[in-house]
Amino acid sequence: MQEKIMITGGAGFIGSAVVRQYIADTDAAIVNVDKLTYAGNLESLGEARFDSRHAFEQVDICNRDQVHRVLREHRPTGIIHLAAESHVDRSIDGADQFIATNIVGTYTLLEGALSYWSELSSVARQRFRFHHVSTDEVYGDLGPDDPSFTEESPYAPSSPYAASKASSDHLVRAWHRTHGLPVVLSNCSNNYGPYQYPEKLIPLMIVNALEAKPLPIYGTGANVRDWLYVEDHARALRLIFSEGRAGRTYNIGGRTEKTNLEVVKSLCDYLDELLPSPHGPHDRLIRFVTDRPGHDRRYAINGERLASELGWNPNEDFESGLRKTVTWYLENNSWLDGIRLRLLEQEANDNFASRHRKNLKKN
Ligand code: NAD
Ligand code: DAU
Repeated sequence: MQEKIMITGGAGFIGSAVVRQYIADTDAAIVNVDKLTYAGNLESLGEARFDSRHAFEQVDICNRDQVHRVLREHRPTGIIHLAAESHVDRSIDGADQFIATNIVGTYTLLEGALSYWSELSSVARQRFRFHHVSTDEVYGDLGPDDPSFTEESPYAPSSPYAASKASSDHLVRAWHRTHGLPVVLSNCSNNYGPYQYPEKLIPLMIVNALEAKPLPIYGTGANVRDWLYVEDHARALRLIFSEGRAGRTYNIGGRTEKTNLEVVKSLCDYLDELLPSPHGPHDRLIRFVTDRPGHDRRYAINGERLASELGWNPNEDFESGLRKTVTWYLENNSWLDGIRLRLLEQEANDNFASRHRKNLKKN
């Protein structure tokens, strides 16, 4: 029987990589459920978007009726849940949408999945997985000499984003323990690669450097992240989804701890080589700015369980992955132009709405 996988957030950075891989490397069919927020972009799907095995549903996972409809109509054999608000800085500016999508949305999806799953045949029920994609940020932060996060590390989220993801992890575990829904969880470190929205560190720095804008580094740039190439993450997710033990959590890391300053300097070196600037080396643009409130110092993943139980290891090292990423952004200006255009349209709509509100007040 052909696999039919419902992927939420499949128009986002990581979700689109998972969809592209399934379409290119397997014969699975995909139901891509995405609200298309500012971070969702169908262009990130490349050719997979037009494949007959790819069906797109523009649906908000908080919408119970729509979630139930999609499950009834498409009858997936499993779900990989990636849809989320994913940017820490936005969650500090305002957490509403994080609570809605990451907590209420996950709850709504769990309820839909449970009711759908409980009516499946016993063979289909056994085969079914609800794979919840989460983050290492649920574990809080590490000091320089602390051991890396394991699946047993206590939860201690720092930001509203991390707290909303921690909350969703607890809901997923509860639906397994209480209702028997066959779930699997994965908690991953920082991803980088093509198609990442230019608000996250690496793409933001590339885009700013190309426009000769300042490269804002929070604090002293000494915070450490464990970087993982997105295609490696997508491979790990596919493996955990099909082979992972129900009820189990798997940490996914890149085995590449770097300070933010190291990352930005490496980026600048690649840009100097690939697109030298007449104004001098790109690192002249680096500026140290006010730190992020509650900024976690260090993340590092112990990926032993995933390696020993399922045999997964990252293929890409940071040097080759970063070079590929910089090259991709240099060669894919049209993808960035699409985002710039949408931002301009949004601004124009906001201005129109604010003029309209003022006019209404006058009348
Ligand atoms: P992203 O922001 O690039 O994409 C999120 C996608 O979810 C977008 O396509 C968006 O339109 C969609 N979405 C948002 N709200 C929705 C809603 N209410 N209903 C339906 N769709 C909605 O995020 P990403 O970086 O691809 O992250 C994907 C998942 O992986 C998230 O759950 C995130 O927490 C997790 N994660 C990300 C990283 C990372 O470094 N980016 C690391 C670990 C875990
Ligand atoms: O660890 C996994 C998490 O990684 C995911 O769960 C999140 O969805 C993802 O956004 C990412 O979170 P971070 O906060 O670590 O990523 P971000 O790219 O925003 O920042 C990486 C580091 O760079 C962090 O220490 C903050 C710093 N930074 C970030 C930006 C945007 C800067 O110094 N300057 C910046 O302008």
